[in-house]
Amino acid sequence: MGRWTLDDIAWERFDPSKLDPEVVRIVKAASLVEYNSAAYAHHLCRAVLADASYDFAAAFDRFRAGYQIDFDAVTARRGSRSGEMIARCMVEVGTSSYYSALRDGVREPVLKEICRNIAADEIRHYKLFYRNLTRCLERDQIGLVHRLSVALGRIAEAEDDELAYAYYAANEPAGPYDRRLYSRAYARRALTLYQQPHVRHMVAMVLKAVGLAPRSRLAEAGSRLAWLAMRYKLARLARGAA
Ligand SMILES: [Fe+2]
Repeated sequence: MGRWTLDDIAWERFDPSKLDPEVVRIVKAASLVEYNSAAYAHHLCRAVLADASYDFAAAFDRFRAGYQIDFDAVTARRGSRSGEMIARCMVEVGTSSYYSALRDGVREPVLKEICRNIAADEIRHYKLFYRNLTRCLERDQIGLVHRLSVALGRIAEAEDDELAYAYYAANEPAGPYDRRLYSRAYARRALTLYQQPHVRHMVAMVLKAVGLAPRSRLAEAGSRLAWLAMRYKLARLARGAA
């Protein structure tokens, strides 16, 4: 489905008996993060879908040029405009794979449908930033090492406070905030949902953004490694919680 609204969701099919309460905890956290940040991006993408002649990349360039303070800050952080586009692609890799894993991991039909729609939106966001990255690279060429370091740096940042705090705020508002505790509580529930095809897709998107072939021996090895690392982390988190 392309453009969708909350009215498109078959809410009458909602069946709470099919909901896993552990999943509900992370969905609540995700809803806080989305409300805080993603609504804006969703509107951008809908605007593109509503008007096929809309050149998002050009409009985005204008917006960035006019929005000087933020632009300076992010450019300084990533080193270049191309670097910033790679970082944005990484955010969409994270969100699209997360919602795909959630879509495939839940049995409740309405939540599944919403996750399917959001996952498709996030893939579209990735494509928009990837297209913009291609344009940026024409003027602002950066090498593989730089591209990789920006990508891996942004992936590492994904473990930041935001989700841990959202998990805490959504589920444990009474006690004090303990970053380590809640980031582990969140990760333990989220990582359980990932299956190997999600990880393979995730690795392919990362490789594409840094300029490497998304389907290759390297991609296959990378996705196996990422899958093992994820399972290892999950096992450690589960042991820690026991
Ligand atoms: Fe997005």
